Amino acid sequence: MNVLILGNGGREHALTWAISRSPRVGNVICAPGNAGTHRIARGFPLDLADAAAVLDVCRREDVNLVVIGPEAPLVAGLADTLRTAGLSVFGPGAEAARLEGSKAFSKEMMESEGVPTARSATVRSVAEAAKALEWLGERVAVKADGLAAGKGVVMASDRTQALDAVRQFVEERTFGSAGERVVLEEWLEGEEVSVIAFVDGDEVRALVPSQDHKRAYDGDRGPNTGGMGAYAPYPGLEGEALERAVQDCLVPIVRGLARRGVDYRGVLYAGLMLTSDGPRVLEYNVRFGDPETQVILPLFDGDLLEAMEATANGTLAQLPPFRIAPRAAMTVVAASAGYPAGADQGRRIAGLDRADDRGTALVFHAGTEARDDAIVTAGGRVLAVTGLGESLAAARQVAYETLASIHFDGMQHRTDIGARALGGVTASGGNGG
Ligand code: AMP
Ligand code: GLY
Repeated sequence: MNVLILGNGGREHALTWAISRSPRVGNVICAPGNAGTHRIARGFPLDLADAAAVLDVCRREDVNLVVIGPEAPLVAGLADTLRTAGLSVFGPGAEAARLEGSKAFSKEMMESEGVPTARSATVRSVAEAAKALEWLGERVAVKADGLAAGKGVVMASDRTQALDAVRQFVEERTFGSAGERVVLEEWLEGEEVSVIAFVDGDEVRALVPSQDHKRAYDGDRGPNTGGMGAYAPYPGLEGEALERAVQDCLVPIVRGLARRGVDYRGVLYAGLMLTSDGPRVLEYNVRFGDPETQVILPLFDGDLLEAMEATANGTLAQLPPFRIAPRAAMTVVAASAGYPAGADQGRRIAGLDRADDRGTALVFHAGTEARDDAIVTAGGRVLAVTGLGESLAAARQVAYETLASIHFDGMQHRTDIGARALGGVTASGGNGG
């Protein structure tokens, strides 16, 4: 089976790594890919916004399964174009991708399907927002409706901050048309967990729950990022509690879409807040999380390609239950100076050659590029360094020791990934703040 993986981040490196291990795999292409994927699979420049160009690659390379990594092409309808042309595709069509592409639509779906979530209001102006705050309360999350690369959420502690954020989104258009509508949501307290499931139109099967760390600096301070590190399994959501969360938070959405004639095939990701009243959905994504994928896939004990093919073809129910390795994984993101506001680029990365020698470490590339005989930084998040171990503490030690052997100018990372789960320990030698 020839597989085309689309994207160029750490998530796609992890997908390419896991798919390449399948006994069923033939040729693997990851396009455009990065310096990490290019070491294990072919890749070449490809504009994912150009559906005709992607289709052309599929025909030329005799591709049997297309795996779409990032949200933008899913929201733009790439999966529909490819399916119409007769290809097997892992990833939902445009109609279903609105779950991620529009926070207002996502809230409508949650409300109509009875999914537990924060109370909210969708507004188009500062005046409407001021009215909504009267009944919502003043401590709110202010969210741009459309795609904003994980950065379109402002946590406002009072009315002034909330209305300021609304003004920036709807009047100053900080995120362009993504801010035309704004969702205001009550501020929930609790631990966050990412529940990522395969959905084949009907069957919903969860992978191991994980916890991301979205803030830039140690102690969950600083701006929101795409994610600075993650670990799995998340110890607070196992067994029956996970099953219940899947039944309450994921299954109703899949059923609701099916009733509306929308067939969901790919990954459905629920970002949950575990509140004292139980799980509440903060958001849906229609793709794998990054960097969650870099800890979830190393714990998937089985043939990932077989599971993805069954998901794309609607035959997931025929597979035995997913097996999760009884181990732990942790990944720490090494980011460029200036991330998330901007990103310094072109810095030579040292120490990659020996980094994954120990067998329990996996260095996934995100923003990297080969230049002459070196690998250089080429984005905000540069690497996701994953450690595996018999316990979270062991996985953490491997991840941080491996990270310590890698260097590039301006490298920044958090030193406290997984610290809350482990009772507050911080790795030494970082510069997280
Ligand atoms: P989202 O893109 O909707 O997941 O929001 C990004 C981040 O903002 C989440 O991962 C949370 O850390 C935070 N957040 C979003 N909504 C809420 C909420 N209602 N209450 C508390 N934190 C939130
Ligand atoms: N790590 C969060 C996301 O992928 O949206």
